Amino acid sequence: MKILVVGSGGREHAIAWKLVQSERIQTVFVAPGNGGTALHPHLKTIPLSNPHALAEFAIQEKIDITVVGPEVPLAAGIVNIFRAKELKIFGPTKEAAQLESSKDFAKAFMQRHAIPTAEYQTFSDLSAAHAYIDLKGAPIVIKADGLAAGKGVVVAMSLDEAHGAVDMMLSDNSLGDAGARVVIEEFLAGEEASFIVMVDGKNILPLATSQDHKRLLDDDLGPNTGGMGAYSPAPIVTPQLHARVMREIIQPTVQGMAKDGIVFTGFLYAGLMIDDQGNPKTLEFNCRMGDPETQPIMARLKTDLVTVMEHAVNGTLDTIELEWDRRTAMGVVMAAAGYPDAPRKGDVISGIPAETTDCITFHAGTTVLDGRLITNGGRVLCVVGLGDTVKLAQKNAYETVEKIHFDGAQYRRDIGWRALNKKH
Ligand SMILES: Nc1ncnc2c1ncn2[C@@H]1O[C@H](COP(=O)(O)OP(=O)(O)OP(=O)(O)O)[C@@H](O)[C@H]1O
Ligand SMILES: [Mg+2]
Repeated sequence: MKILVVGSGGREHAIAWKLVQSERIQTVFVAPGNGGTALHPHLKTIPLSNPHALAEFAIQEKIDITVVGPEVPLAAGIVNIFRAKELKIFGPTKEAAQLESSKDFAKAFMQRHAIPTAEYQTFSDLSAAHAYIDLKGAPIVIKADGLAAGKGVVVAMSLDEAHGAVDMMLSDNSLGDAGARVVIEEFLAGEEASFIVMVDGKNILPLATSQDHKRLLDDDLGPNTGGMGAYSPAPIVTPQLHARVMREIIQPTVQGMAKDGIVFTGFLYAGLMIDDQGNPKTLEFNCRMGDPETQPIMARLKTDLVTVMEHAVNGTLDTIELEWDRRTAMGVVMAAAGYPDAPRKGDVISGIPAETTDCITFHAGTTVLDGRLITNGGRVLCVVGLGDTVKLAQKNAYETVEKIHFDGAQYRRDIGWRALNKKH
């Protein structure tokens, strides 16, 4: 089998790393990939990212299956382009990807299908948005409708902050078209979890649960980021809660999309807020796997991923079960100086140890220049430790993090704190 993985982040490195372990694989291509995929002896990194060029490549190379990592090509219709050429690809069509690419679409969809989520209204008119904020009071959440690379959500604790956020999006156009409409929604309190499943159009196969750390600094302080670390499993998602999320959120979403005439295929990620009574609500949908959640999830997956992908594109996900490493996997992100606002590139990276059975380093913003590995983006690496306890997984990850060096490296020292608190 030949498989093409589209994307350049830690998520795509982890997916490719897992695929290439299969005995059924001939070649795994990663486009455009990163320093980690380029240095991997059995991965082929190719400098393509345009969806039309990728489809041509897939035809020439006789690629069996293409797997898409990030949301941008999905929202641009890469799945539509591939399917028009009868190429097998795992991901949602442009229409289905609206669950992520338009917050207004997702909210209206959830309301229509009685899927639990925060109360909301959508605005493009500035004064109506301000009036709604005054009516509802703070805390309140302002979200740009479109894709904004993690910068489109303001959780406003005060009225001033809320008014400032709509001004920034609707009047200053700071987020361009993505912020030309805003969803204003009720603030939900609780603990978050990431619930990711694979959907083949009809059947749903849940992946292991996980939890991400959005804020830059320890104790969940500092600005929001793409994610500074994640671990799997998430102890807050008990078997009972898991069943409830499937019944109340995931199944109605897949069935609701089909009823609305948009068949969903691909990874479906529900961002959940679980209140102190244990009730889940949907904060958002993503139509792809999370980054960094993918890294610990792939580190725990024991089933052959090539076979899983084959079932996913053939509509037979009901015929397989996934087997997971029972250990906890904990991923710690090492980010560049200046991240998230203005990450610095070009710092030399040293000290990454070889992979072991209890620690793997996935690359994200790295590249190889003149034979040297250098930083090339905001989130540089994700070091995943595995261990029989949360504490041991954490120890294994941080022991490796401390061996790795690049100037200005930033990382949190408390990844996994919620899971640790639950275990003691
Ligand atoms: N209604 C809400 N109440 C409280 N916090 C919220 C609410 N909606 C969003 N948040 C917080 O803001 C974060 C980002 O929101 P959301 O997931 O909708 O945005 P996003 O930019 O699509 O995120 P991602 O990059 O994970 O896809 C959430 O992870 C959560 O911490
Ligand atoms: Mg999102």
